[in-house]
Amino acid sequence: MMGANESIKDRGDNRLMLNIEGLIHGGDYNPEQWLERPEILIKDIELMKKAKVNVVTLGVFSWSMLEPTEGVYTFDWMEEIVGRLYDNGIKVFMATPSGARPKWMADRYEEVLRVDEQRVRQLFGGRHNHCYTSPVYREKAKAINHEIARRFSGHPGVVGWHISNELGGDCHCPLCQEAFRNWLKVRYKTIDELNRRWYTTFWSHTYQSFDQIESPSPIGESALHALTLDWQRFVTDQTIDFVKHEASVLRGYNNAIPVTTNFMYYFNGLDYFKFKDVVDFISWDSYPTWHKKDDHIIGLDNGMWHDMMRSIKNMPFILMESTPSYTNWQGVSKPKKPGMHQLASLQAIAHGSDAVMYFQWRQSRGASEKFHGAVVQHDGRDDTRYFKEVSEVGQNLADLPMLQGTHTEAKVAIIYDWENKWAIEASQGPRNKGFSYIEAIQKSYNALKKYGIDVDFIDMDCDMNKYEVVIAPMLYMFRNGIEDKIRQFVECGKTMIMGYWSGIVDENDQCFQGEVPYNLTDVFGVSRQEFVGMYDGEVNKVADGYCCEKFCEVLRGEGAKILYAYKEDYFADTPAVTVNHYGEKNGQAIYIGADFSQEFYNDFYRDVLEGTCIKPIITMSLPDYVHVSSRQSEDARYVFLQNYSNASVKLELGEGDDTIVFASGKDGIQPYGTIILKQRL
Ligand code: GLA
Ligand code: ZN
Repeated sequence: MMGANESIKDRGDNRLMLNIEGLIHGGDYNPEQWLERPEILIKDIELMKKAKVNVVTLGVFSWSMLEPTEGVYTFDWMEEIVGRLYDNGIKVFMATPSGARPKWMADRYEEVLRVDEQRVRQLFGGRHNHCYTSPVYREKAKAINHEIARRFSGHPGVVGWHISNELGGDCHCPLCQEAFRNWLKVRYKTIDELNRRWYTTFWSHTYQSFDQIESPSPIGESALHALTLDWQRFVTDQTIDFVKHEASVLRGYNNAIPVTTNFMYYFNGLDYFKFKDVVDFISWDSYPTWHKKDDHIIGLDNGMWHDMMRSIKNMPFILMESTPSYTNWQGVSKPKKPGMHQLASLQAIAHGSDAVMYFQWRQSRGASEKFHGAVVQHDGRDDTRYFKEVSEVGQNLADLPMLQGTHTEAKVAIIYDWENKWAIEASQGPRNKGFSYIEAIQKSYNALKKYGIDVDFIDMDCDMNKYEVVIAPMLYMFRNGIEDKIRQFVECGKTMIMGYWSGIVDENDQCFQGEVPYNLTDVFGVSRQEFVGMYDGEVNKVADGYCCEKFCEVLRGEGAKILYAYKEDYFADTPAVTVNHYGEKNGQAIYIGADFSQEFYNDFYRDVLEGTCIKPIITMSLPDYVHVSSRQSEDARYVFLQNYSNASVKLELGEGDDTIVFASGKDGIQPYGTIILKQRL
């Protein structure tokens, strides 16, 4: 174990700072459900060892068992379990229990309960629904965290702190309103400045003082886009403040134990990039609806979110939760077919996770998740398909220790910016229906993966310079000087690709005056004349058979070369896709003015990338449903080939000294199979 005063931040390398050898296999362990059945707790250890579990997350929802009445702490059971796990070689991510509060607290202190946007105070129940501002809630969380840290921060079995659970949601109580007003005062200083930046003269919404400001509400203000945007920013900041509050207690006892909090799939409510300096490692919970449509498409979608998680800190992350089998909260919670569990688990590893973990270890007998899949089901057997597949993954991970801490070296990044997304979604414009930021991002991502490269995500606060190509689909909002960064990037001789609906508003969602994309019309050599919302079913065409639908822009050429021109409508023959060579180093600024089909992006990005130094990870040609990704150490690159179909695929190596370090089966890439190749660097 690292010394108590060895600072995590000082490690400075790419490895996860966890006191674990090799990759992690485990999951949420909720033994408080079984305290009256000691034989089950003993059996759990035996089964965990059989499944090659080396880390469990403990205590996520244990508050009422740890503090059954206010100030009375009962930790014996947990100390015994941590000790027993440790004696059997199983380490612990220790959770703080703030994701669900005890009843006594809600009864005694009403302020811990959330108030919804209709201004209705919620009753006790459910979880993940407390007020992040409430001083009482913070005080109570702090007190229990002291008890946890006091007991476990020196325990060699505790290797990570897991703060709360799936943070999210907002609270509109008077305490939160007050905190929001204070946040606004810091941001705008005077009410006149706020009025100016929020554009409140429209519809006579001018404020006379900060005290009048209320969070957005369906029964109140919902039309002031800048208010909505600032509220979303505030909610992220307030949630982060809460995480810091919790983390400071834990770090105060032992700064060498790294801290995380588990994120969610496509979660809109928090700007996850803002957590990058708050937590020591990123973790997230992945529950794709496998088999709902083509698994190759679902795989791309899930892979994209893995890449997002890796990119936030640009280092390995932890897959904190996944199901060994099925969930119980999706419209249809279909089990993973044989082989899918291995594929999905190794997908996380392929994209940069150092762990495969599950919700939950043993299936609940009662309450809301009794039919959610678990490693050990109600029958308690270890010869079920799920248990066997989990154990096999455990063995796979144990066989791949060399992957721990290896990193992904992407040369291409896509800008995905939460604030931009919020602004797009709040605004009404030329096309409100089906005008999806995520879809635009996915089209670019899918095309890059089809070309066969690794992809990073960055937001507008990140450094672009380490990339050769940066793609910005629908960068509606320009904030934090992104236009200057883009200009400099192209000046360095690099390739910038910008999509339609970009460079339109500032950070307060106010339209730029003058030519757009703002401050970049000379770089791209085009400016935008008109936005054209298109009705469902309407299409426009360009050469080579490519079509666009939903939305396009009428562009004015300002020196760029036209790559494609529209063929239809009153703007036929005007530019749709352009390239401009800009700066002394002849950088490329490419503009895509319409919502093209996936085929366009696939072909167009391939052509653009072929003209750069970016080559596919491997040269062999593989079907689309075999996804390629890589991780590397100083002297080796590990290439993952993953087959998302039920057909086996021939593997023709012939690339010099590539060696197979892992294969799901013999003879090529099996259905749902994975091959890992090692290339010497
Ligand atoms: C989330 C939660 C878990 C559990 C799972 C079920 O990820 O964090 O507590 O509810 O969903 O899929
Ligand atoms: Zn509140």
